[in-house]
Amino acid sequence: MTAKLIDGNALAAQIRAEVAGRTAALKARGVQPHLAIILVGEDPASQVYVKHKAADSEQTGLKASLERLPATLSEADLLARIRALNEDPSVHGILVQLPLPKHMDTHKVIETISPAKDVDGFHVASAGALMVGQPGFWPCTPYGCLKMLESIGYDLKGKHAVVIGRSNIVGKPMAMMLLGRDATVTVCHSRTKDLGAITRQADVVVAAVGKRNVLTADMIKPGAVVIDVGMNRNDEGKLCGDVDFAGVKEVAGWITPVPGGVGPMTRAMLLVNTIEAAERSAQ
Ligand code: GUN
Repeated sequence: MTAKLIDGNALAAQIRAEVAGRTAALKARGVQPHLAIILVGEDPASQVYVKHKAADSEQTGLKASLERLPATLSEADLLARIRALNEDPSVHGILVQLPLPKHMDTHKVIETISPAKDVDGFHVASAGALMVGQPGFWPCTPYGCLKMLESIGYDLKGKHAVVIGRSNIVGKPMAMMLLGRDATVTVCHSRTKDLGAITRQADVVVAAVGKRNVLTADMIKPGAVVIDVGMNRNDEGKLCGDVDFAGVKEVAGWITPVPGGVGPMTRAMLLVNTIEAAERSAQ
């Protein structure tokens, strides 16, 4: 059996087109949706990420303002800048790119962002809203994974979904979203005993560990849906996920590729959260 691919690039393009339509509608009402992006320091990967986020925004008609602040900036000055953006009615979404310089308390910085503008969905209020099923912003990566499952018309009700990874930005919110869709959810992690025994029972597996070959063909049920959140490099330096794609695609029913799977969806969902923030503020 060869799995069908869930094409993240194609789905992300469709989502960007929808966001562009919503942006145009808001602009027609005199509101320019605006995402403020803050980059502190010069981390090379972060520089690339923020450039992409700004370009994606502009492409869909959202205004993106990218502020590059020096690594020597004090935490107090960063918090003051975030508070100013919270108060600025022309700004709808605020994203502080992580990681931050070591002298800053990431938790404190994130908690300073207004939950109404928390388009990354990292604030505890956003996490709490997701947990209790209240409106809020969902973290972009698991939200993108959920959209991928929706795109194939997959009904999660009563299905066994196994999430590998328990991070605050992927594993835990992913589990909550799947639970919200009536799946039976198991969260596995580095201390899980006999991972394969659990994943072999899964109808859906989401791998979000950040380690190659965490999921191999012998660890899945034939026909399972496999979502690969990993972004790793193999020995040849090529981008690869957490899943042994070559092996797993012969057993799975559906699979997401890396690259071209969850990555573009994460970027697209930031735009969705931003337009959503602007629409809510314009109500
Ligand atoms: N660094 C790596 N990924 C992300 C992300 O999704 N949001 C932010 N703010 N920083 C990141």
